[in-house]
Amino acid sequence: MLELIASHPILTAVLAIVIGLVLLSQRTTKSTLPGPKPWPIIGSLPLVYPYMRHEQGWRMGEILNATYGNIFEIRIFSRREVVVCDADQAKRILAGTAAGDLSKAEFCRGSLLQRMHKDFAHYGLFVIPSGPDWKKHRKFLQPAFGPHHLRLSTEVAVEVTRSLTDLWDGLLKNALANGKKSITVNIHEAFSNLTLDVIGKVAFSYNFKSIELMNDAVAHKDMFLINEVFATVIKRFAVPPFLWSYFGLGEKDAQKSIKYINTILRDVIEKKRARMASPDAEEKSKWNLDLLDRLLDASKGGGEDFTDQEIMDEVFAFFLAGHETTANALTNVFWELSRHPDIMANIEQEINDVLGPDGEPNHENLASLKYVEQVVKETLRLHPVVSGIPREANKNVEIMGHHVPAGATVFVAIRQIHRDTRYWDRPLEFDPSRWDNGFNPRAGTYLPFGDGPMNCIGQKIAMIESKVAVIQLVRKYKFTLVQEQSFRIRSSITTGFKDGLFLEVSHK
Ligand code: HEM
Repeated sequence: MLELIASHPILTAVLAIVIGLVLLSQRTTKSTLPGPKPWPIIGSLPLVYPYMRHEQGWRMGEILNATYGNIFEIRIFSRREVVVCDADQAKRILAGTAAGDLSKAEFCRGSLLQRMHKDFAHYGLFVIPSGPDWKKHRKFLQPAFGPHHLRLSTEVAVEVTRSLTDLWDGLLKNALANGKKSITVNIHEAFSNLTLDVIGKVAFSYNFKSIELMNDAVAHKDMFLINEVFATVIKRFAVPPFLWSYFGLGEKDAQKSIKYINTILRDVIEKKRARMASPDAEEKSKWNLDLLDRLLDASKGGGEDFTDQEIMDEVFAFFLAGHETTANALTNVFWELSRHPDIMANIEQEINDVLGPDGEPNHENLASLKYVEQVVKETLRLHPVVSGIPREANKNVEIMGHHVPAGATVFVAIRQIHRDTRYWDRPLEFDPSRWDNGFNPRAGTYLPFGDGPMNCIGQKIAMIESKVAVIQLVRKYKFTLVQEQSFRIRSSITTGFKDGLFLEVSHK
């Protein structure tokens, strides 16, 4: 035996590592949690990776929930991921301390998200772990989402939606000249452009001219590699870091997919720097500074000490979080409206009642368009764009009668909670009237924007721009679903249509 070891040192070392890993994986296998039986060492990787690779995590969640119940566990190598489909527990998990005394917190945002976003947005607010860094970023950026910016968001959303209707009107005019009454539109693409232009103007005072350039396929294509970024991040959850580059998930692959976006974002920062340095720079009050004003102001001695990398990462993070989410939400709204003419008619009626035939939405009257709001809310319930949120057990905890060890990932399954018969009547039915009379769902049952201290910082902007777009488009056009198309749903960090959504658009 000793001779064998001496003559094959490499083989022996590999064997020792494998045996060690098997023993380690067996040591951590003892668990009362239901879930797919893990393989030695790799855990449930063979089950999980195909779903991640094909961006079908939403389907896996449904199947495992139906098979194992409202709490189950998946193993990825030695990492334990506990999926929780329960409103009370969701409330408890998301309420976890974000910045104060973490030693008291049961749950926190661990470093997992940040590690998965390596090379993309390391210091972006939505991945920064609980602790003083998160607190610094959140506290400092919060005022850029205050009343001034919400009012501005409404104005910008009206203006940007107008540029979309101008574009469609031009295309419809050409179509009519050629004897066609409608144009076929990839509504997801249209909304990605719209929401990018809105976030550009509101957060960075920058015009991405996304709608203007929509028909310039070459210039434009690379702007929308965001889904590739999200897909890379989600696949990284299923693959250990030392194998990332073998799976096309390494640093070089990441840099390639964001090269173009980074060039644009550097331009965003440089243009803003130049404007701020110009002698006739606009004097803004502290409360009117946009997100980028605030970051750059701090970097030149504003007291918060943001590094260049932090600034770039935050710009990238808001670029990511600030438009693809809302674009998917709006796509889902029109997917439901195109299948529910009665609900479309209710919206038209409300617009007419509140705004009349020509009145524009503004910050004041938007609140009176309650049915439109109900439609957006119901869409986010049935089709939550972010279908789950990961947290980490900060200490040994008990969840629904099961022991969950410190360090385990605890995943709040928003999609499952939103579709659970324990909380919602006819949960799979799209019914905006369930929100009548200011209906307020029970805590923990409705989480499209998360909950607790790390909830979505941009949720009011998202609601404003969604409502404005619905109002301005529904009153002007008729939307019909193109029947022959793939309705494949993909999910990574966000959930949406894999190949876009095509609608026939015509004038009313
Ligand atoms: C319909 C659209 C949107 C949806 C469904 C959505 C969803 C979410 C969810 C579920 C979270 C919680 C993440 C967690 O707890 O870890 C979140 C956080 C966040 N969202 Fe959104 N979001 C939307 C729009 C936006 C917009 C428009 C912006 C930017 C203007 C934005 C920026 C952020 C940021 C920065 C965070 C991290 C907050 C923190 O950690 O303090 N989101 N979002």
